Amino acid sequence: MFRTEIIEKFGQVPTPLYYYDLDLLNATISRCLLEAGRYGFHLHYALKANSNPKILQIISANGMGADCVSGNEVRAALENGFPADQIVFAGVGKTDDELRLALKHGIQSINVESIQEMEVINGLCESMGLKSPISLRLIPNVDAHTHRYITTGLEENKFGILPWQFDSVLEKLRSLEKLELKGLHFHIGSQITDLDVFKSLCERVNEINAWFIEQGYLTDIINVGGGLGVDYGKPDKCSIPDFESYFRIFGDLIELQGRQQLHFEPGRAVVAQCGSLITRVLFVKEAVNTRFAIVDAGMNDLIRPALYQSYHKIENLTSTGEKRKYDVVGPVCESSDCFGKSVVMPETLRGDLLAIRSTGAYGQTMASRYNLRDLAAELYSDEI
Ligand SMILES: Cc1ncc(COP(=O)(O)O)c(C=O)c1O
Repeated sequence: MFRTEIIEKFGQVPTPLYYYDLDLLNATISRCLLEAGRYGFHLHYALKANSNPKILQIISANGMGADCVSGNEVRAALENGFPADQIVFAGVGKTDDELRLALKHGIQSINVESIQEMEVINGLCESMGLKSPISLRLIPNVDAHTHRYITTGLEENKFGILPWQFDSVLEKLRSLEKLELKGLHFHIGSQITDLDVFKSLCERVNEINAWFIEQGYLTDIINVGGGLGVDYGKPDKCSIPDFESYFRIFGDLIELQGRQQLHFEPGRAVVAQCGSLITRVLFVKEAVNTRFAIVDAGMNDLIRPALYQSYHKIENLTSTGEKRKYDVVGPVCESSDCFGKSVVMPETLRGDLLAIRSTGAYGQTMASRYNLRDLAAELYSDEI
């Protein structure tokens, strides 16, 4: 829901633009911290969801750590207030330079995804004269029941270490003197809306944790990743995800041992609902069986609908005419450049402003300059 003065402001600035409601962001962070705090859980915000400096500074100022998946994300985390000892670095293909950067800054943990990576980090540590805390990213084989492109916790996915490799990983670890096993890491996927999935994750994590303890490895940290989904259909009614139920599942079911801490890596749940992509209608075109509203934002600004066939609510902010159906499409030279089919909106004309909602996560961070288009601008609620 946008106030009149905000819509007026949209009318005065070039589009497409990403608008961020910072009151909602702050309220979401507070709720997330409150609900996690009831159980003493630790949070690392996943930068990949949105790495906008202003947003990172708000999140770091609230005391969350950072979850990074590239050297540049580690840099961005450091530059925007996340202390090095609260940064974790995951990713299936880290370059030597990226690993050196992480080692140089002494981050909390490198989340390692293969035996070969362990060997490489050990070698880099030897040449740099230091030791590295690592966590093992393990495949729990839990189906996240989400889009297959964002499912990451199954044996067929490229991420993490397979269950039948756990033995050999520990054997290797014993021979690599520069590595210190600090944690077990799991991340099974993103936009998970069936909370029972997290119950299954807890069961598997308990089994795997018990097995590692039996082998003599009681790690300080159990990290269960991110994944909590948001309600793309109801960005106003469900603007803050159900953190209470989510953390309660882990509070009830995870069996931590000794002084083990439970860590999370939420991304989407923190930032998705505070962002909207604001775009202007360029043309309205009648076609066979449909009517196109052609807007000035393209799939280069928001690729989720094209990549994952994902739904985003689309609203006409400036028209009050009679309701009609439109296919809302962008100007990019691809037929997949479509934000929504048969979208019901008040009669839509050239110059109208549309809001594509829930785009605070995996919107701007996935943007490209395809077709040599400019990147969308940003506007924050505290600038209006
Ligand atoms: C390792 C890791 N942690 C955390 C996340 C954040 O996930 P989400 O935005 O669904 O919370 C991701 C995203 O896929 C990830 O790959």
